[in-house]
Amino acid sequence: LAQGAESGDLAGLRFVVSAGPTYEDLDPVRYVGNRSSGKMGFAIAAAAARRGAEVALIAGPVHLATPAGVRRTDVRSAAQLRDAVFAALPADVYIGAAAVADYAPRAVADNKIKKSSDTLVLELVPTPDTLAEVAASPSRPRCVVGFAAETQDVEAHARGKLQKKRLDLIAANRVGVQGSGFESDDNALTVYSREAARTLGPAPKTRLADELLDLIAERLRA
Ligand code: CTP
Ligand code: CA
Repeated sequence: LAQGAESGDLAGLRFVVSAGPTYEDLDPVRYVGNRSSGKMGFAIAAAAARRGAEVALIAGPVHLATPAGVRRTDVRSAAQLRDAVFAALPADVYIGAAAVADYAPRAVADNKIKKSSDTLVLELVPTPDTLAEVAASPSRPRCVVGFAAETQDVEAHARGKLQKKRLDLIAANRVGVQGSGFESDDNALTVYSREAARTLGPAPKTRLADELLDLIAERLRA
């Protein structure tokens, strides 16, 4: 079992965890979304609470039960996720496990968009990057952890994000392959810091959550 798993080793620490997809509304009945199930983020929140941490879970639209001992806030869009995360700070640790939309429609149509011409062009504008903003904020948690779901060049992209967003750790996984990634119960992660790389799994997301928390606890002690 992971080191701290049943020991209350995270008592006295505040965690903020984001999980799930975001939905960016186009009109009253349609949205732009993604395939994130929220399972990884919920597993992390559950494990941190079980180990004694005070946990705020900011959840996008998912069909998952709230883990025991976790304070949950439901959000829909990237903008709402940002506001809920900042409302939950300060914290010792921020873990951005949500699959946040990078772009959202410039405006939400008041009425259902009608089928009219042969093509439809959607105008999308960038959403706030919550993870980068948290890492750059005056109330920066001591440990800021990102996720990177990649389909290719996993290490280069993950290390690029670690540096650009000024993270302490980034957990990278390859998506779009069998038996891992967004919708699965299992996953494999490589966790990068500036100094090192550690591979976790393949294993159930519940176990990966504890192993990731072990790495975070190690850094907080150092
Ligand atoms: N993230 C965020 N807000 C966004 C986009 C991403 O907080 N608007 C966070 C995610 O929660 C994740 C990390 O940033 O922890 C990396 O997300 P990812 O989509 O892999 O990276 P991006 O920087 O968005 O780059 P790209 O999608 O081009 O790979
Ligand atoms: Ca992205």
